Amino acid sequence: MTTILGIETSCDETAAAIVINGRIIASNVIASQIDLHAQYGGVYPEVASRAHVEAIGYIVEQALGDAGISLAKVDAVAVTRGPGLVGSLLVGINYAKGLALGADKPLLGINHLEGHVYSLWLSETEREIEFPVLVLIVSGGHTELLIMTGHGQYQRLGGTLDDAAGEAFDKVGRLLGLPFPGGPNIERVAMQGNDSAFEFPRARLDSSYDFSFSGLKTAVLREATVAPSMAQRGERVGDKVPVLRSDLTIADVAASFQKALVDALVEKIVRAAKEYKVTEILLAGGVSANQALRREMKAASELPVRYPPLSLCTDNGAMIAAAAYWRLNAGLHSNLDMDVKPMWALTSDAYAE
Ligand code: KG4
Ligand code: ZN
Repeated sequence: MTTILGIETSCDETAAAIVINGRIIASNVIASQIDLHAQYGGVYPEVASRAHVEAIGYIVEQALGDAGISLAKVDAVAVTRGPGLVGSLLVGINYAKGLALGADKPLLGINHLEGHVYSLWLSETEREIEFPVLVLIVSGGHTELLIMTGHGQYQRLGGTLDDAAGEAFDKVGRLLGLPFPGGPNIERVAMQGNDSAFEFPRARLDSSYDFSFSGLKTAVLREATVAPSMAQRGERVGDKVPVLRSDLTIADVAASFQKALVDALVEKIVRAAKEYKVTEILLAGGVSANQALRREMKAASELPVRYPPLSLCTDNGAMIAAAAYWRLNAGLHSNLDMDVKPMWALTSDAYAE
């Protein structure tokens, strides 16, 4: 039995978890900073670092306490090394080093994106995932399409050329006057809207597996700021009054935007799945919580589509411990002098120093 403590502080959640054999969650504690950042409409890096410093000690203690074990019983300490905000990453990495050194445990610096990928193994207990699989990581910072041919083996097919999918949700949410983060709020509002009310542009980028969402965001901006119909009706969403050009409602714009973004993702996934003859499609990252994405993906493909349970889509420590399990199993760990990697890409040789 291998018990790993996973620590995650790459963005705006201070999180720690205890995971057994890369699959069983013994505890999973998350301190979200959403309320702190909502007033700025996005993550404020310095505020995030300071909040991590304040939270990390008790979050780790609570993770151990909830699992009913002491640090001495843990087999390894895993921590997100990158990509992410440098100041936030440093808090987690330094804390993890202290624990590993003090308790004489192996230390593993884990790629955050690999953590999102392994959130799928945490939730998967019935049927083994068989390689090769196609993986879409869609979060606030990343949109990456990968083929995974084995544990730790990644071939990158493409990614976003500008905004990440979650970032597009967050920016459009702000345009529409919705609270931060935009993703879940757009999804909620979109449920009341007509997703074919407005035909937003889909960036083609034909044969590539890259994505572009900035044109879509600009198109929403054009729809949402020109004429006063919404304000005249006195409708308020969030703390701003968005002004829509046409007679569309905020819900229609949200639903049509969400549909355009989901379509762009699904189209490339379907094409890549055929070209690379994968056995399954895996969705991970914060945006994989989106029900429209899950539904459209399942409708568009004959292959099984997997995604994490809602609680594991956004950042957490369990996914970091899960990813670390397979690395530790392969006899790998990090040195105590490892540094953060704020721009770390996920490739098969990502872990080569
Ligand atoms: O994976 P995550 O917690 O953090 C990063 O690694 O970036 O993802 C956060 C992102 C945010 O942009 C948020 O708006 C988006 O995931 N998100 C969603 C949903 N829930 C979270 N986007 C669309 N629909 C959702 N239900
Ligand atoms: Zn993430």
